[in-house]
Amino acid sequence: MHEYHYEACVLLCEEMDLRDAAQQFGTPLYVYSKGSVLDHCRHIEQAFGDTSHATYYAVKANSNRTLLKLIAGEGLGADVGSGGELTLALQAGFRPRSITFSGVGKRDDEIAFGLRRGINAFNVESTEELEIINALAGRERSRARILLRVNLDIDAGGHAYVSTSLKQNKFGIPWQQAADVLRWAGTLPNIEVGGIHSHLGSQITVEDTFRRAAQALTRLVMDLRASGISVNDLDFGGGFGVQYRGYLRHPHLPPEEPEELNLSAASLVKAVLPLLKETGCRISIQPGRSIVAHAGVLIVKVAFRKEAGEKVFVVVDGGMNDLIRPSLYHSHHQIVPLLLRGDPHETVDVVGPLCESGDFLALDRPLPRVVRGDLLAVMCAGAYGFVLSSNYNARLRPAEVLVDGSSASVIRERETVEQL
Ligand code: LLP
Repeated sequence: MHEYHYEACVLLCEEMDLRDAAQQFGTPLYVYSKGSVLDHCRHIEQAFGDTSHATYYAVKANSNRTLLKLIAGEGLGADVGSGGELTLALQAGFRPRSITFSGVGKRDDEIAFGLRRGINAFNVESTEELEIINALAGRERSRARILLRVNLDIDAGGHAYVSTSLKQNKFGIPWQQAADVLRWAGTLPNIEVGGIHSHLGSQITVEDTFRRAAQALTRLVMDLRASGISVNDLDFGGGFGVQYRGYLRHPHLPPEEPEELNLSAASLVKAVLPLLKETGCRISIQPGRSIVAHAGVLIVKVAFRKEAGEKVFVVVDGGMNDLIRPSLYHSHHQIVPLLLRGDPHETVDVVGPLCESGDFLALDRPLPRVVRGDLLAVMCAGAYGFVLSSNYNARLRPAEVLVDGSSASVIRERETVEQL
């Protein structure tokens, strides 16, 4: 599971010296461990034991084609959020029957595409969307399977931007209206009602939050059935949190309080599975982050060490356009030198080269003292890293490489200025 470790003070990914990867492919650079992706898939699948279920990998977390192929090869399905993700998932080898389509604003052409390819289900967010899917399915002479996304009005904690299950959020239909909407959906000629779906939010680290959601969903399924509505499928969504703080430990590294220690999607799934099984439904989940976050790092090079009054800035060659999570959500990513020399620690801001003060990777962070040319790894950057990168400041998106044992191969070329 843990594919990054220090050997003689040098950071390795599997058996590869990450300094060699930086030398060979340049920086900033996304590196992924193949073993880590596979292990995380397997770990989640094992959590279900012999319970019949489906796991739809949330493609939005990382849609690199090579990683998608690896995940499809493990027998997982895919949850897509756009026509683009649907195309990538199909090309990567996910069977249409193993694909679900989520999202609050699906376009007509995206819905028609999904219908033509015969995907497993649309997770529907509004009555208007349901009407459109019904009409488009009629036009395509097909039938659409749908799951109704219910909004449970549960506070998932974490950052407000990724909390999706409060009643003031744009997602889903208030659970109190589920019976009426599903009864009506059952009368639509081109709609087959599969069941219900919920997704609480992302980076949820508290087991009890999932348990409360599972209880609410189980009660809802029972109530729906009592009023004559058949519910066969229950999709529990994703959102399983991962450990970011203190991911790597070493005597030369400043210790980080690992508040999320021992967190794993597998244990969270195990905590809710008995409840969900009470419904007798076919259970599915949509994990994204928990499959790919730990597999990836962003490697950056120190451009300058700049002292300004009380402050020390470590200016690196990767910024908010390469990894926006710290700027956007104030997310914590551990940052570590690829080579530990035993230097004294100092508190610094690790900042990028872009034109605004929001461009940082870490603020007030204790770090071993670094100098120009040193290489740093921004840990746990495999999820919502490259996919959220941009060309802001006309910067080129980084390359992505996959490490397998002691070798690495490019799985996405660095962008060139001609592509801008
Ligand atoms: N299912 C649905 C319907 C979703 O909207 C999402 C994520 C997932 C599954 C997967 O959730 P996960 O297991 O990855 O937490 N950019 C943010 C996270 C946004 C999550 C969006 N939806 C971040 O960097 O933290």
